[in-house]
Amino acid sequence: MKKIIILFSGNGTNLEKIIDSDHNHVDYEVVGAIASNSVCKGIKRAEDRGVPVSIVDSVQYKDRLSFDIALSQKLQEYDYDLIVFAGFMRILTQFFFTQERKIVNIHPSVLPAFKGYKALRRSFNSETKDTGISIHWVTKELDEGKIIKTVPLGKLTKDETYDEFKERIQQLEHKTYPEVIANLIL
Ligand code: GRF
Repeated sequence: MKKIIILFSGNGTNLEKIIDSDHNHVDYEVVGAIASNSVCKGIKRAEDRGVPVSIVDSVQYKDRLSFDIALSQKLQEYDYDLIVFAGFMRILTQFFFTQERKIVNIHPSVLPAFKGYKALRRSFNSETKDTGISIHWVTKELDEGKIIKTVPLGKLTKDETYDEFKERIQQLEHKTYPEVIANLIL
């Protein structure tokens, strides 16, 4: 059974599903959550589920390195096997990767298509077949780490709106991410 810590910055719907899928620590145990933003919705989602949230608020740090040092110090307070990024909107410096850590991320496209920010919007606008989701290991290169699983979503229907598309992607993420975390062998 692996111990995981969830890092997030925003809405926290993936965080919520990951916590809800932690059924009595059979496959994994959520030992904590860290937010990079003190006012995001995910904080309440975690706390409502009994997972205390630490905040390392990015606006309090003068540069990326200072934030990464503070985040690394905060992580030292936890005993964990795996870091799970769930909408963690930070680009990390080399410093963060000098320590040996296993980190996974979820991204709303079939990588390597649409790396980086606004991936969902860009994939929607493109109308290519690379819509879907990817779960991958995190390295210092943005969205470049080894892919663990991709799930294509299929073509958009002609009349689908962006919000409908986003909803389908999120449902896929919510089903897939907890399963992948549960099945990961570290
Ligand atoms: C997800 O779409 C994920 O793919 C991306 O950020 C979004 C986070 O959503 N990395 P939420 O905060 O889990 O609702």
